[in-house]
Amino acid sequence: MAAGRAMTGGGGLATVRTVEALRQHVRGWRGEGRSVALVPTMGALHEGHLSLIRLAREQADRVCVSLFVNPTQFGPNEDFDRYPRDEAADAAKLAAAGAHLLFAPGLSEVYPPGHLARVHVPVLGDALEGTFRPGFFTGVATVVTKLLLMALPDAAVFGSKDYQQLLVIRRLVADLDIPVRIVAGETVREADGLALSSRNAYLAETERRIAPVLHATIVDVAEAVATGRNAREAENAGTRRLGEVGFGKIDYVAVRDAETLGDWDGPPQPGRVLVAAWLGRTRLIDNVPVPSG
Ligand code: PAJ
Repeated sequence: MAAGRAMTGGGGLATVRTVEALRQHVRGWRGEGRSVALVPTMGALHEGHLSLIRLAREQADRVCVSLFVNPTQFGPNEDFDRYPRDEAADAAKLAAAGAHLLFAPGLSEVYPPGHLARVHVPVLGDALEGTFRPGFFTGVATVVTKLLLMALPDAAVFGSKDYQQLLVIRRLVADLDIPVRIVAGETVREADGLALSSRNAYLAETERRIAPVLHATIVDVAEAVATGRNAREAENAGTRRLGEVGFGKIDYVAVRDAETLGDWDGPPQPGRVLVAAWLGRTRLIDNVPVPSG
C-alpha cells in the first residue's frame, strides 16, 4: 500500500495517526489473506511490552501496536502529565521486535470534541483497583473497546501484570460480542522479582531496593494460602511486612477468586493474590496465581 510504504522507516515499521489510515493498512493485510494482532500500549516501552509483541507475532501474520496515553483512565491527581513519552525510542524498539505498524493517534482522533460514550464493566471493574482509582476501568474499557473496533484484529494481546484489566477486557469482549481473541502474556520481571513497569522509572534508588519485596510478599501469601492458611490472616501478614520494609500506603493485599475477583473459596477454584502499594510518590501493582496441586 502506497500510504504505508511512504511512512515506513528502515525497520519496516510504518506509523499511522488516523483511524482511516489504520483501517487502510488492515484492509490491505486482509486482502493478502493475512491475520492481524493488536497490542495496545501507552508507550514508554520495556521488555514486558516487547514480550507481548513477540507473543502477538506468534498469534498472527501482522502486528499492530497502538501507542496512546489515554487521559480517561487517569484520575485528576494522577500522573497523566508526567507519564513518560518518547515515541521515537518506542518506534525503534517496536521495529527491532518485529512489529509491522504503529498506531499513534492524537488526542482528538480518539476523543473528538463532543464525545460522550463510555464502556463500564461493573463488579469486575469496581473491585480492588476500581476502589482506589474510581473511573479507571471505565477509561480502560472505553479506550480498549475503541481500539478493538478501530483495528478489528483477529487477536489482541494483554499482559497478566495488569490482571484485573485483563479480566475486565475479557468480560467486555464477551458481553459486547466483539469478534476478537484475547491472549494473555506472562509478567516479565527484573532478576530480583520486580515486575517491569513504566512507572518503575519514578523510583528513587532507595525505593528501587525495597520494591522487590512487593513480589516476594505476594509469592509468600500465595504459598501460605495454598497450604491452607486463612486468607485474611495471610493478607494481614503481607500488609504488615510491606509496612515494615518501608512501603507507605498499602491499598490492598488481596487473595481473590481468579475469575470473579470475589472471595476465594479455596481449591480447586483458581485463586490469585493481588497487591497495590505506594513507595513514596509511586504506586506499584503486582499479582501472582495461588499455586495449585
Ligand atoms: P501499558 O501500561 O502501557 O501496558 C500495555 C500492556 O503491557 C498491558 O497489556 C500490560 O499488562 C502489559 N505489561 C505491562 N508491564 C508488563 C510486564 N512487566 N510484563 C508483561 N506485560 C506487561 O495497560 C495499559 O498500558 C493501558 O491500560 C492500555 C491497555 C493500553 C489501555 O490504555
